[in-house]
Amino acid sequence: MPAPGTGRQHRRMSKSATSVRIAAVGDIHVTKDSAGSLRGFFAKAADAADMLLLCGDLTDYGTADEAHILAEELGAVSVPVVAVLGNHDYESGTPEVVCATLKRAGVRVLDGEACEIEGIGIAGAKGFAGGFGRGSLGAWGEPAIKMFVKESLNEAMKLESALAKLRTPRRIALLHYSPIAGTVAGEPAEIFPFLGSSRLEEPLLRYPVDAVFHGHAHRGTMDGKTINGVPVYNVAKPLLQRTRPGQPPFRVIELPREAAPIAADSPAAAVA
Ligand SMILES: [Fe+2]
Ligand SMILES: [Fe+2]
Repeated sequence: MPAPGTGRQHRRMSKSATSVRIAAVGDIHVTKDSAGSLRGFFAKAADAADMLLLCGDLTDYGTADEAHILAEELGAVSVPVVAVLGNHDYESGTPEVVCATLKRAGVRVLDGEACEIEGIGIAGAKGFAGGFGRGSLGAWGEPAIKMFVKESLNEAMKLESALAKLRTPRRIALLHYSPIAGTVAGEPAEIFPFLGSSRLEEPLLRYPVDAVFHGHAHRGTMDGKTINGVPVYNVAKPLLQRTRPGQPPFRVIELPREAAPIAADSPAAAVA
């Protein structure tokens, strides 16, 4: 099977000289029954963009079989694919198998790492839960609570170290959990703390990006902004399907190709 980014099974739109198109989707939740059902979807996303970002929960139970099916389905993709894992990819206790299977298929899987595609820097981490703002869980009391908060801080540090590596004028953060409450709004308030953490927003204030993509909140809100005005896109596939019926369930934004200073307010233009 040709690796994504090297295969050319699908005829795609030619690249723009002035902008880079970024397609993103999360929460695909591939199951053992998904074989053959996603190739058209991925081909459409590849046709609409210069790269495809996958925001975690790539598989439903994190099994080797599911990862293999996803890798096969991505064979239709003719642009570079960058991914982070989600909590579902950990369910079987072997996230390294999911990761290795996707890497063999040519997918760049980021876990506190960064990469550059078409001059756009991408920093990726799964993230973790913990809550937002004044509702954030603090590291106090029982060891189990402290361990939970430590995991949240570890993931924020992964994101920060990935962001710190980027030297490109245009940058994107790729997450599974949300860094802001705005894009989980719509979910039951009782589960907000399990959908993301403000601790993930802190590195984004120190290392501004042009756009943030995440998933996980299937019933959240598509658009939000960080405190410093950076657009945040919740691209959970079930959310896109429900919010925009009749449209392919992936999001596309465009960033200018030319080098320019990073402005805090709205450098990214959402086109789909
Ligand atoms: Fe999910
Ligand atoms: Fe999730």
